[in-house]
Amino acid sequence: MAAFGTVFMPEMAISWFDGSSWSAAEVVSSESLQLHPGAHVLHYSSTCFEGLKAFRHQDGSINIFRMDRNIDRFTQSSELLALPAIEKAATGKMIIDIVRRFKDEVPEPPGSMYIRPTHIGTEPAIGKAATPSVTSCQYILLSPVGDYFAGGDTTLRLLLEENGARCAAHMGMIKSGGNYASALRPIMKAKQEQRADQVLFCPGGDVQETGAANFLLIDGNEVITKALDESFLHGVTRDSILTIARDLGMDVQERQLTIDELLERAAKPGCEAALSGTAAVLTPVGTLIHNDKEYPVGNGGIGATTLKLRQALNDIQWGKAEDKHGWLTRI
Ligand SMILES: Cc1ncc(COP(=O)(O)O)c(C=O)c1O
Repeated sequence: MAAFGTVFMPEMAISWFDGSSWSAAEVVSSESLQLHPGAHVLHYSSTCFEGLKAFRHQDGSINIFRMDRNIDRFTQSSELLALPAIEKAATGKMIIDIVRRFKDEVPEPPGSMYIRPTHIGTEPAIGKAATPSVTSCQYILLSPVGDYFAGGDTTLRLLLEENGARCAAHMGMIKSGGNYASALRPIMKAKQEQRADQVLFCPGGDVQETGAANFLLIDGNEVITKALDESFLHGVTRDSILTIARDLGMDVQERQLTIDELLERAAKPGCEAALSGTAAVLTPVGTLIHNDKEYPVGNGGIGATTLKLRQALNDIQWGKAEDKHGWLTRI
C-alpha cells in the first residue's frame, strides 16, 4: 500500500487573498500550484496547515470528524503567524464541497479521506523578513488513506529528549511547517543512534509531545498528559480521547509530568503509554529510552486501555457509537 499521504485526489479547492478580500473558491487541478519564486512562504515560512479526516459510514454517508475544531486551530495558526485572517465559514464550505466532490473515493473504515487545508503567504517580496505577507492562498488537498495499523500492532520506541526542543517555545501551538523542519535533525539522530521510532521532547525534564503526536500516560484509571500551554500542539485527538476517558469515568489529569515521574510510573506492571494524533489515532508506546537506558512501559506490550480508548474513538468516527458530543459533520 502507498505510504500515508502520497496519493492525492486530482483536484483541490483553492482561494486567494489579494490584500483586501478572498476570491470565490475554485476547484483546480492538484498537480501544481503557481507561485513566484520570491513568495513570502518560500523564504520566511509563512505557512500553516491542518489535518482532519472524513469517514464513510455503513449507511453510505460521509462524515467529517471535528471540522470546527480544526478550522479554529487553522484560524489561530494563521493569526499567530500574521497571515491574512481566515473566514471560518468559507473555509468550512471549501472543505465540505471538495469532500463531497470526491465522496465516492472516501475509503471504507479503517481507511478514511485525509483532508489537508493549507494557508501560505504568497507576496513576492524577499525583503519582507520582518513584515507579514499581504497576500496569501488557501487550498484544501485530499488524500485517501488506509489502515495505519495494517501489518499488525506493534509498540513504539520513544527517545526522551531533555536538552533539545521540537521548536521555539512560543511556536508550539501553531501548526506550521517550520516546526516540523526544526524537529527533523533530532528525530533522524534518534532513529539512527537509538533505533527509536520517535522523539518525545521533554525540555528541562517536562514531558511534552513528539514530532507529530501528543503523549498520554495511562496508569490504571488515571490518564496523565501535559496541560495546554503555547509550547505544544493542542491535538484534536488528545481532546477527543480525554473526553472519552472522562465519559468512561477515568481520572483525567492535565498537568505537568516530569521524566522522573514518567519513568517511575512506567515501571509498574499495568502502566501504558500512547501517542495521539489524527494519523496515529492512539498508538501504543512500548519502550522509553533515556540516557542510553531502555525502560519498558508496563510489560512493553499493547495496553488494554489504549485499545479500548482507540476503539471507542473509532466507533464514533465510523458511526458505530452515538456521536453524543456532536463531533461529526455529515455531508
Ligand atoms: C506536533 C503535533 N502534535 C500533536 C498532533 C496531534 O494533533 P491532532 O490530534 O489534532 O491530529 C500533531 C498532528 O497530528 C502534531 O503535528
